[in-house]
Amino acid sequence: MEQYDKEFLDYMLSKYKLTLNEATNGTESQIITFAVAWDVWKHAKAIYSSADKESISGFMSKDHSRLDSIFQKFLASNNSDDRKQLFLEFKAGLERHMGWEENILFPAVKQKLGDDSAMIDELIMQHDRMREDLTGITSGLKTGNASIETDMEQLLSAHDKMEEEGIYPWVDDNIESNEKIVILSKIRDSIR
Ligand SMILES: [Fe+2]
Ligand SMILES: [Fe+2]
Repeated sequence: MEQYDKEFLDYMLSKYKLTLNEATNGTESQIITFAVAWDVWKHAKAIYSSADKESISGFMSKDHSRLDSIFQKFLASNNSDDRKQLFLEFKAGLERHMGWEENILFPAVKQKLGDDSAMIDELIMQHDRMREDLTGITSGLKTGNASIETDMEQLLSAHDKMEEEGIYPWVDDNIESNEKIVILSKIRDSIR
């Protein structure tokens, strides 16, 4: 059996009202909820624990990969309980990631770039389109909506590339290292 840590078990109890017993003996949906949450938790922990040593680019790109792999699992699944659970984990993670960018990272970039920050405005517009897709997928979860799911997939891939090749390396090259530590700490503090 997996070695769940106490912090995770406390989190499952407060967020989903699930205990370790239900993780193995509960209903199918409780077991799935537990398994998906544990998978995300393990990844998240590995990323967050190394945040201090990490570049902005490394940290944020790892979160992209994590979210992308949840979304791909969602697309590949035919089981409606799995799809729902995976999508909800993806949606929560993407909203949090966009929040980090809009509230913590992008303001620091805008402050340095001033009038030259058109790329940031473009990225924020893409976030808004992703939020619309999230809403569209949420309302079509039972029936499935392949065209919105495809739009989300394409948008996410183009958007992540723009950030990973443009903004994140720029931040690593142009923002002072003590300011970067402040940015990463703010991100980490927002998790709890
Ligand atoms: Fe973004
Ligand atoms: Fe991003």
